[in-house]
Amino acid sequence: MAVSIPLLLLSVFASLAPLALATTFRDGDYIHTSRKAQFHQSRTNWQDLLGQHCPRFGIDRLVAVPIPKPQLAFGKGDTYKLQFSFDGDRHLTPWLPLLGEGAPAVPLIIVTLRRSGEELLGATAAVLDAPEEYKQRHPVLVAELHNVTHWPKHVLVHYRFDTRNDVDLDRGLYVLFPVGLLAVLALLLSALRGVQPKLAQFLADVTSEGTTAAAAMWKGSEGKGE
Ligand SMILES: *[C@@H]1O[C@H](CO)[C@@H](O)[C@H](O)[C@H]1NC(C)=O
Repeated sequence: MAVSIPLLLLSVFASLAPLALATTFRDGDYIHTSRKAQFHQSRTNWQDLLGQHCPRFGIDRLVAVPIPKPQLAFGKGDTYKLQFSFDGDRHLTPWLPLLGEGAPAVPLIIVTLRRSGEELLGATAAVLDAPEEYKQRHPVLVAELHNVTHWPKHVLVHYRFDTRNDVDLDRGLYVLFPVGLLAVLALLLSALRGVQPKLAQFLADVTSEGTTAAAAMWKGSEGKGE
């Protein structure tokens, strides 16, 4: 029994670990987002997006994200790619072509964020040619994109959430944790109960020794008195 208590405690802490690592979100919470650009065979560092350009948990939204200006002059044939990272680099998208080779006339980035309960499970992204309706609604943005000398340009990003309702591991762990805690308590109680007779014996011994000593002293003082 003395061995199983630390083991159980260990399993309780092990079950806690994934809970501590995963970020939990409430609907509407901003998800930390960074982006990295690639042009002229070089890449920028990760740069954080402002809240207004970040996805919000559980909410589908369309935003226009500014893209950094390359240091060197950017020609018509040059390729410009972008990569996103979400929730502190936990989820990365592939490199998305926005200008030049492989890029559509007006890029629209669709970011699909997979969620389950309060957790962000993953992110995928694809670049599409923006529908005609989008182009008509955002003429300035389209003109900026096609003007090689205009920076910063903005790219349309549509964040959409894909909700998974399958049984997730963490919910299981939420249940396991109290169960583990109860098991530990039960073990401690039964261990205490096992100790109880010994404790009673010990207390009895101490008290009886105390009384014997006191009695001896009493007798001693009595003896002196005689
Ligand atoms: C392109 O952008 C630059 C800088 O913003 C601007 O001065 C120029 O007029 C634009 N060209 C066209 C054709 O819109």
